[in-house]
Amino acid sequence: MHILTASLAILSVDSLAQQGVATQSSGDYYPDHNACQGISPIAHKTYRPLKHARLQKMSIMMRHGDRVPVSLLQGDSTSYLLCNNPLETTSVSSPPGVYHGSTSYASPSMRNKIVASPEENLYAAAGAAYYWPNSNCEIDQLTGRGAAQTRAIGERLREIYVDLLHFLPHDLLKHPDDVLYLRNTNVLRTKISAANAFEGLYPERFRKGKQAVSLVTFPQSIETLTLNPVACPKLGAIYQGFVRSPVHAAHIKENAVLMVKANTVLGVALDPRYNTTLQGGQVLPRLCNKLSLCHVTNPKNCISPQEAQTLMEKSTFLYSRFLRVDVPGAGSSEIAKRLAAGPFLKNIADSIRGTLASDKKNGHHKVYRPFELYSAHDQSLDQVLSVVAEPNTPWPAYASTVIFELWQKKKGKSVVRVLHEGRVVPANKNLKCALDAYPVEVFLQFIESYVPKNTVAECAL
Ligand SMILES: *[C@@H]1O[C@H](CO)[C@@H](O)[C@H](O)[C@H]1NC(C)=O
Repeated sequence: MHILTASLAILSVDSLAQQGVATQSSGDYYPDHNACQGISPIAHKTYRPLKHARLQKMSIMMRHGDRVPVSLLQGDSTSYLLCNNPLETTSVSSPPGVYHGSTSYASPSMRNKIVASPEENLYAAAGAAYYWPNSNCEIDQLTGRGAAQTRAIGERLREIYVDLLHFLPHDLLKHPDDVLYLRNTNVLRTKISAANAFEGLYPERFRKGKQAVSLVTFPQSIETLTLNPVACPKLGAIYQGFVRSPVHAAHIKENAVLMVKANTVLGVALDPRYNTTLQGGQVLPRLCNKLSLCHVTNPKNCISPQEAQTLMEKSTFLYSRFLRVDVPGAGSSEIAKRLAAGPFLKNIADSIRGTLASDKKNGHHKVYRPFELYSAHDQSLDQVLSVVAEPNTPWPAYASTVIFELWQKKKGKSVVRVLHEGRVVPANKNLKCALDAYPVEVFLQFIESYVPKNTVAECAL
C-alpha cells in the first residue's frame, strides 16, 4: 500500500492515516467511543423522532466498515481469512457483489482466489512487504466484519426510517432512484459498504421485480468527499504546511517512544520511508481483528491493545488538527475547511434546498432526494464535523455515521438535526445553538458560508 500511496496523486484518506494523525481524547462527549465500531442510532432506544414534527429528508454519511491493514507485519506468513468473500478485489461487474449469502453475484459459480506464489509470480519476492500471502484479502480491502458492520447500519436505518417513521416505503419502489440517492467514493471498500447498507435497508424480500438502484460516484480526480490536493492544490499546500510545522514535529516527538516501538514491531524501524509515522492504519485493523500485534521473530516484543488504540488516536492528529488549528506557516484552518469540506457541503445544502422546494407534505416519493447515503471515509466525515461540530469529537470509527435530518415542525418551520455516533452531535460554537432542532435557513447559510465561490481561484497556489 505504501507503493500505491506514493504513486497515487490523490491522498486517499485511510492510506494517509498511515502517515501519522492524532486526536485528543474523545473525552466527555463520547465516553463509549470505540474506534473499531461506530455506533448507530437504534429505534426506540437511542433514536427518538423529533416531537411534533414530520421528517422531510435524511442524509447519512457512513464510513466504510472494518478493513484490512494498510501494510503488513514484515515477514509475517500467517494465513489470514478475514475476507469471507474476496469478490471485491477482482469483480466490479454489476450487480455489485455483496457479502453474506446474497445471490446477486455476477456469477455464483466463479470465485476469486488470490495467488501469491514466488514460483508463479517473479515479482512475489520483491513485493512481499505489500501483500498477504495465504490470505483471501487484498491489502486495504473491506473485511467480512466490515461488510457485516455496514449491513447492520442498513438494518438499523430500516428499523428507524421504514418501520418506526414510515418515512421510506416498505418495499423498494419500482423506480428506487426516485427515493434513494446513494453515492460512494470511487473505492471498492466504500462501494461494497454501500451495497451492504442497501442490502440491510432493502433485503431481497422487500424487493419485487428486477429494479436497480444507482450508486453514484464521482471520478476520483474530482472527488469532493476526500481531501483532494490534485483538484485543489492550495488545500494540499495547507496540509503539507501543517505536516512540516513545529506543532506537528512536537506531536511526533511527544509520541516518539511509542512510534519507534510500533515501527520496530512492524519491522519498519530502519526504513526511512515509513519510520516517521504513527502507524494508525496498520495497528488499528490488527487490533479490531484480533491479529497479532507482536514482532514476527521476537514475539515478546508487542504493542498492547491500549498502545494500538493510542497510536490510532495520535495518528489522526494531522488530519483532524489541520482543519481546526492555525499554525504558523501552514495557512488558515478556516480556509482549509472551506476547501476540504466546502465542495461537499454544497451538495448537502443544495439537496436540502431541493427538498424544501419540492416538499408538499406526505408525498415522499415526489420529494427531491428524501433519502441520501454517502459511503465514504473517516476523513470525509471528519471534515464535515470540523465545520459543524465541536472540535473535539472523536475520529470517526469504522462504520461510523453522521446523519442530517430535516424536520418540519407543526408550525411549518423546518429544522435540522445532526447525529453522530447515534446521538445529537455537540455543535460548533459558531453555530451558537444545539444541533437538535436548528433553524434550517440559518443552518444552510452557515454551511454555505464554507462553500467556495470560485474553486479554481481559491484553490490556486
Ligand atoms: C528511520 O530510519 C533511518 C534509516 O535507517 C534512521 O537513520 C532513522 O533514525 C530512523 N528514524 C526513526 C525515527 O526511527
